[in-house]
Amino acid sequence: MSVAIIGNKIDTAKEFLIKQQLVAIPTETVYGLAANALDGIAVAKIFEAKERPTFDPLIVHVSELNEIFKYVTNVHPVLLKLAKHFWPGPLTLLLPRKSNIPDLVTSGLDRVGMRVPNHPLTLELLRNLEFPLAAPSANPFGYISPTKAVHVQNQLGDKISYILDGGDCSIGLESTIIGEEDGEVIIYRLGGLSLDQIESVAGRVKVQLNQSSNPKAPGQLKSHYAPKKPVFIGNINELINRYRKRRLGIIHFGKTHFSADNSVVKNLSETSSFKEAANRLFSFLRELDDSDVELIICEMLPEEGLGLAINDRLRRAAAI
Ligand code: TXA
Ligand code: MG
Repeated sequence: MSVAIIGNKIDTAKEFLIKQQLVAIPTETVYGLAANALDGIAVAKIFEAKERPTFDPLIVHVSELNEIFKYVTNVHPVLLKLAKHFWPGPLTLLLPRKSNIPDLVTSGLDRVGMRVPNHPLTLELLRNLEFPLAAPSANPFGYISPTKAVHVQNQLGDKISYILDGGDCSIGLESTIIGEEDGEVIIYRLGGLSLDQIESVAGRVKVQLNQSSNPKAPGQLKSHYAPKKPVFIGNINELINRYRKRRLGIIHFGKTHFSADNSVVKNLSETSSFKEAANRLFSFLRELDDSDVELIICEMLPEEGLGLAINDRLRRAAAI
């Protein structure tokens, strides 16, 4: 099996992208699988590599706020305020697109997802390119998002030319996705930017997380971000008791210590830090999925701050 070259050379990444090849890029949220967003043939390779259904649209990444006006017709004032406040950062805005964005990128929808990621290597790459980058998370469709270059190599290395290695992702959860309908600001996916942070700038917003396989819903498929092993969420003691005959992977949060015979225990954060938990969640799920545990049990976090986004991912990981 062929593997991707891993390195930190902007020029090499640029050469492959110009040749319509796929390059994995680091961002502060998760690694992305990037191609020229204006080139339908290059974009099609993303869907092929991820085995992603074409009804699931891609986020377009640019180097700065002003760049979006090349690709969108207008920006609602509250969304503009959010962009000014949080970009570069873990915020994706759904905005009315211009016709230079290929249909494949938006799955034929009228809006395009735009984001300025906060990673020095990727920002430099974007400034060096004459086109924006379409990039979903760099994992096979439905699986856990990658937060390290090696995660990308292990799963998609044979389908990618180059992995731009920017180290571990500092946030570890995907961007928060926001748009506007009839003047109302709506959060479609909770992510690295918390609801409190959004509301401190935008005022009250509506949270509309879809839990279906409705193709119009922004990728919020009920089962997503999921390991191959079964995942159960709930009270850890009850779950340990229920599955005590099995070899368990246990993911918990905070000071309480758990043990069960033959189990592997991972603590998202001993000090109950949501940030630390967000940063570790996907790595822990992967480690347990790659280990010899039979099933994974997880504790939910308090429903506040980044805990909301983390719980959203846990629910989807546990959905069948
Ligand atoms: O943090 C992130 O957002 C990462 C990094 C690489 O930027 N990207 C990412 O992309 O998570 P992806 O494709 O794995 O998830 C993006 C979600 C998808 O579920 C997709 O359905 C939704 O955003 N989305 C993108 N464009 C959309 C659009 N025009 N309308 C509705 N939903 C959209
Ligand atoms: Mg994804």
